Amino acid sequence: MKYVKPSAIRELLQFGANPDIISFAGGYPDPQLFPLEQLTDIFHTAVSQHGRNALQYTVSNGIPRLREQLAAKMEGEGVTCTADDVLILQGGQQGLDLVAKMFINPGDLIITENPTFLGALIAFAPCEPRYKAVTVDEDGMVVDELEEMLKQNLKVKFLYTTPDFHNPTGVTLSLQRRKRLIELANQYDFIILEDSPYRDLRYQGTSVPPIKSFDTEGRVIYLGSFSKVLAPGLRIGWAVASRKITEGLGLLKLAADTQTSTLNMVAVSTFLDTCDVNALLASIRQTYLHKKELMLDTMRKTFPQHVSFTDPKGGLFTWLTFAKDFDATKFLAEKAVPLAKVAYVPGATFYPVTQEMNHARLSYSLQSDQLLVEGISRLGQVLRDHQHHA
Ligand SMILES: Cc1ncc(COP(=O)(O)O)c(C=O)c1O
Repeated sequence: MKYVKPSAIRELLQFGANPDIISFAGGYPDPQLFPLEQLTDIFHTAVSQHGRNALQYTVSNGIPRLREQLAAKMEGEGVTCTADDVLILQGGQQGLDLVAKMFINPGDLIITENPTFLGALIAFAPCEPRYKAVTVDEDGMVVDELEEMLKQNLKVKFLYTTPDFHNPTGVTLSLQRRKRLIELANQYDFIILEDSPYRDLRYQGTSVPPIKSFDTEGRVIYLGSFSKVLAPGLRIGWAVASRKITEGLGLLKLAADTQTSTLNMVAVSTFLDTCDVNALLASIRQTYLHKKELMLDTMRKTFPQHVSFTDPKGGLFTWLTFAKDFDATKFLAEKAVPLAKVAYVPGATFYPVTQEMNHARLSYSLQSDQLLVEGISRLGQVLRDHQHHA
C-alpha cells in the first residue's frame, strides 16, 4: 500500500461531475457515440432468449466466439494468432495489472515512454518496479535513445509502450521505429507490452501495423480494448500473446476475478457478428476528427503564440507545451479551475522518473462543440492574462 497513492486522475475526474467546470481532463469517449439502440436490442435478446447461458459462469479466458472474433481481427492486422492466444480482459487496464503481477519483481527495470500513461504506472506500482523513460517526439518513442540506454547493459523486464495515439501526447510510433524496436527487443532480450486501446480511432493518415505483427519470438504482449469503440462501461478488453504468456495471465485472471462478465462478452460478440462495425467506426472517426480540428483551431486563435500542441492523427488527446518556467499544476489550481472554470490534466503526473511541469493533456472527445469552444477560449483568456502579468 506504500506505493498505492490516490491518483491525480481520480482527483481530477471529480471536476467532470461539477456542472460549472468544462473538463478536458478525463479520457472519456463521447457518449453520443455509444451504439445505444443496437446494444439495447442485443442485451434484451441476450437475456430473454439466451439468458440461461449468458448469465452463467463461463471459462476464465473468455467465451470462445469472442476470442475467435478477436483472433480474426488481429490476423487482419498482420498478427499471427489463434483464439487460444487471446485472453479476454476486464478492460485493457486489467492487462496492465496482470502483466505486472506476472513479470515484475521488486526492483525490476521497466522502460516506458516519457511521458507515459498514468494508469500503467498505477497498475505497476504495487509490484515496485524501477523505471527508465525514453523521450517521445512526433514519431513516438525515440528508439535511438532507447538503444543508447540498452548499450549500458541494463537488465530490462519489459518495455511498456502505447504506439498508437499515445496517452498523453497523441503521437504515433513510426513504422521504421516499430521495426527497430522489435529488433532491439530480440537483441537485448526483453518483452514489449504494446498497449493500444486507441488503435481503431485513426481519423487521418495511413495505419501502421501493430508492433506485435513484427514479433517472431513471442515477446510482444498486445492489449486491445472496446472502451473507446463501443463503451468503457462494458469493461471488455483483450490480450494477445504467446501461448505461454496467455496461460500465465489467464491463471492470474482466474485468481483476480474468475472471468469477465459473460453477459457483456456475449453482447460484444453479438455486436461484432450482427452490427456494422465499420459504419460505427466511420462515425467515431468523423466525430473525433471534427472535434480535434475544432480544439486545435480554437487554441490557435485564443492561446498565447508560444504555447505549442501536438496534432494527433487519431485517439482522444493533444499535449500542450508551455514556456519552460510555467507550472501547469499550479496554474490549474490557481487559475484554470477557479477563473476559467476549465480542467485539464497537468503533465507532471505522466512522468515515471523526473516530472516536467510545463505540459498539459487535453482531451477533445467528451464536450459538445459549443462547450469545447467556450472552454478552450476561456482557458486561452486566462493564459493570455497570466502572460501579461508575468
Ligand atoms: C493507454 C491506455 N491504456 C489502457 C487504458 C485502459 O482502458 P480500458 O481498461 O477501459 O480498456 C486506457 C484508458 O484510458 C489508456 O489510455
